[in-house]
Amino acid sequence: MTVISIINLKGGVGKTQTTVALSEFLSYNYKKRVLVIDLDPQTNATVSLMDEMKWYEKDRRGETLFQLFNDKIYGMDTFNGERAVVKSVSNINGGIENLDLIPSSLRLIDLEDKLPLISNTGYYVKSPVTVLADSLSGIIKKYDFVIIDCPPNLGLITLSGIYISDYYIIPTIPDILSTYGIPQIISRIESFKKDAGIKINPLGILISMYRSGSRLHRNVIESLQSKAEKGEYPKLFKSYIPLSAKITEAADFNSGFNTIKQKYEGEIFNRYDELARELLEYVR
Ligand SMILES: Nc1ncnc2c1ncn2[C@@H]1O[C@H](COP(=O)(O)OP(=O)(O)OP(=O)(O)O)[C@@H](O)[C@H]1O
Ligand SMILES: [Mg+2]
Repeated sequence: MTVISIINLKGGVGKTQTTVALSEFLSYNYKKRVLVIDLDPQTNATVSLMDEMKWYEKDRRGETLFQLFNDKIYGMDTFNGERAVVKSVSNINGGIENLDLIPSSLRLIDLEDKLPLISNTGYYVKSPVTVLADSLSGIIKKYDFVIIDCPPNLGLITLSGIYISDYYIIPTIPDILSTYGIPQIISRIESFKKDAGIKINPLGILISMYRSGSRLHRNVIESLQSKAEKGEYPKLFKSYIPLSAKITEAADFNSGFNTIKQKYEGEIFNRYDELARELLEYVR
């Protein structure tokens, strides 16, 4: 079992897109048992992998991550991890057999400010960052890969995902503003790693929304490469994900596809497939 967090402090750089596509390629093309954990209250990964009405019902019944964190704040024990798992998700072929999801909730936003209370409510004596580890360890060990979609911050919810992760991937658009925060991500995760005594390591930087005609993109990639060679940054994945309007259309759950090649056409299919194969070389 390998747990990978998809992280960037910057919003809109392709974290959710990477989470969903990588999970679909690993499960569909490489027959891996994959679990997606959606830690982002924006619920983008959740609603691109499952029907929104079904998610709404689950959220109402307390079968999303809202309930898990809410329980810990108010000293309750109602969240059932097994029941929260949605089996065989994705808009490919009515769902991919070995791809499961633990959904997020918009209501997590309301909890974020209260999370620091968790360790001194008297009900839960541990730090909030161990909440996922304590509740989901039995579930995640049944999978080959667990991919965690993180919100664009390193708050307590994100840290609870990092706490259970073996690796993290930083997706980035190769421009100045998107790559600006990379040193902060690396140093903050490194110091959390020391404090918490965990084992997480960077797996790589993934170029997303790449425009081959852009001089800026090529220059930024060159500079990322040279920092990677000096050991200042994690290595770059060899596969760059191109900018393509089709990606956004395919992410809509309501557009159904018969096969993965139909969802990810031509060039996009090849790039994601290369990414999945590269990842499988690093992590067996
Ligand atoms: N390669 C791509 N080409 C074109 N559009 C893309 C590509 N990758 C992602 N997008 C679109 O760009 C938007 C942002 O992508 P995504 O939601 O994956 O970013 P994010 O980093 O998860 O954002 P947030 O920080 O808000 O969670 C989405 O509308 C997505 O469909
Ligand atoms: Mg996202």
